[in-house]
Amino acid sequence: MSSNSSLTRHSIIPVSLLLVLGTGLVYWFGESWLRHFLLYLSKARWARNLVSNLPPAKVVARRFVAGETIEDAVAVARQLNQRGMHVTMDYLGESVSTIKEAEAARDEILRLFDRIEREKLDATVSVKLSQLGLKIDTGQTFKNVRSLAARASEYGNRLRIDMEESVLVDITLDIYRRLRYDEGFSNVGVVVQSYLYRTEDDVRRLVDEGASVRLCKGAYMEPANVAFPEKQDSDDNFVKLMQIMLSEKARQNGMYLGVATHDEQMVNATRSFVQREGIDAHEFEFQMLYGIRRDLQESLVNEGYQVRIYVPYGTAWYPYFVRRLAERPANLWFFLSNLVRR
Ligand code: FDA
Repeated sequence: MSSNSSLTRHSIIPVSLLLVLGTGLVYWFGESWLRHFLLYLSKARWARNLVSNLPPAKVVARRFVAGETIEDAVAVARQLNQRGMHVTMDYLGESVSTIKEAEAARDEILRLFDRIEREKLDATVSVKLSQLGLKIDTGQTFKNVRSLAARASEYGNRLRIDMEESVLVDITLDIYRRLRYDEGFSNVGVVVQSYLYRTEDDVRRLVDEGASVRLCKGAYMEPANVAFPEKQDSDDNFVKLMQIMLSEKARQNGMYLGVATHDEQMVNATRSFVQREGIDAHEFEFQMLYGIRRDLQESLVNEGYQVRIYVPYGTAWYPYFVRRLAERPANLWFFLSNLVRR
């Protein structure tokens, strides 16, 4: 991601049009429409081709992405470790369209595990099953993810399976359970999203199983028949699910929770709950994305909590980056103003 190129005249026009369209959407319909528009853009091929090829966009994206290579990610992970933070690394790329691409992603992640071991980093790896071929061939995807779990296990490391769109939740949980129970990989964890109605049932089962779970709010565009349309409801559900997964029963079953949020209300609710219940700071962890709320990350570490930072890297940074813009429209103005200034 080089920083010395300038915006071409060619791309100023479409980017300016996006700016005008985005501003118009906010003015007329409010922020939730902008969020939907950005989530649409995160999947639109034309927008990806336009933005990914803008050198200044790469520079701005580095606020949230470690860089394009393993070296970039290793350097960022090392710095975070030195500041007392754990890391989970993510090789960016979702929804590959051929098995060859899925195998290439698998091979990169195998190399990533080797590198983490060699560099003695305090870092696990997170992966999206669609990157390993989930939308093309489930059997091949399973083989790919099994080889990652095996490599992680060889090194005493862990693999976290990210959660994607709601249509993939059943198959993702199914693959997670096959790895855990049929193949005996106890080093594999999964993710649940508080915006889905179904998640409370999933969580109760995962508590019985003593699973390693990351709880997040959910980052995709979901219809009202599967996800709470109101943010307040998914926030309330987040607190409820956090309490269920940090309950005495859950901890006795061996459950380990990653509370993944930048929302101070969620963080404070977790702090209050663990203080009230006398839960040790080593029995769970907070998780945040690289580049977001660094102040909060630092202050939690200073208070003695465990904090894990999700460090994405790779050339396919576009959809990840645009989802981050969708979460906080202020980021969009930051992005566009930087584009125009460069
Ligand atoms: P919310 O969006 O309500 O934001 C609360 C506050 O946090 C904001 O007011 C702002 O201050 C700050 N903030 C949040 N996002 C910001 C941003 N982009 N830039 C700047 N400030 C921001 N999702 C998913 O569907 N599947 C998954 O597997 C994962 N994995 C995952 C791992 C980790 C470690 C994290 C932290 C998050 C995920 N997510 C995810 C994303 C998650 O679902 C959610 O979209 C984001 O975390 C944003 O939600 P918050 O809980 O931060 O709250």
